[in-house]
Amino acid sequence: MFKSALIQFAPILGDIETNILHIAKLLENVADAELVVLPELASTGYNFRDREMAVRLAENPAGSRYVEMLVSQAAKYGQYIITGFNEQAEDKIYNSSLLIGPSGPVGVYRKMHLFMNEKKYFTPGDGKLCVYDTGFCKLGMQICFDYLFPEPWRILAQKDAEVICHPSNLLTQNAVKALPGIALMNKVFILTANRIGTEAELTFNGGSMLINPSGDFLQKADADNEYILFQDIDPQLSRDKMITPLNHVFDDRRPEQYTADNC
Ligand code: ACM
Repeated sequence: MFKSALIQFAPILGDIETNILHIAKLLENVADAELVVLPELASTGYNFRDREMAVRLAENPAGSRYVEMLVSQAAKYGQYIITGFNEQAEDKIYNSSLLIGPSGPVGVYRKMHLFMNEKKYFTPGDGKLCVYDTGFCKLGMQICFDYLFPEPWRILAQKDAEVICHPSNLLTQNAVKALPGIALMNKVFILTANRIGTEAELTFNGGSMLINPSGDFLQKADADNEYILFQDIDPQLSRDKMITPLNHVFDDRRPEQYTADNC
């Protein structure tokens, strides 16, 4: 059993310094959580006016004051922190999720399925679907609109992820419809940390949520308020892949039949 915390708040578009101060304050409230999840693009905001703005706000994690702050918090409290991050790498920028542990940065996932204007700014992720063993759980990462594409979640689960962390900036209720099914089909926990607030024409809908391997909501935040959801999680519950005494969610698959050419 371990303690998780999802942080729902409203980053300020383009104001990294203010966002760092705000997030550092929020993190003081989750010192006893082993795993903390922050929203997508938590340090920069989301609705960039143009590509120039997205590029100007992008950072290499190695030189980022935001990452430095998270590294020092994670070391101080002996915890793992996941955050959305506008990542600059060589001449590209990615909508990424960083995993930071007590000893420093551990891994990165780059969003594969870009939503709306993100396509104008970011390069889609390069397909690395890694599962990280924290010692208290095995976890993978997906980001926001990735909820619409079931294959990577299945791959993470087949690579033994017990918990899939999902930093988000959700704008519709579609994830609320899709994610319980994804959790059930793969028998994994899903931790979605969404943001709130409005940036120009976009209003983000909060509702950060924790879903168990039966597809049930353990907790769901409201749409408008800053919120921290704490939840104890038993990752063992994800290891039982039987859905009835005679049905296993992976072993009962018929991949040889899954072709469009067989009739
Ligand atoms: C989204 O992918 N941020 C909707």
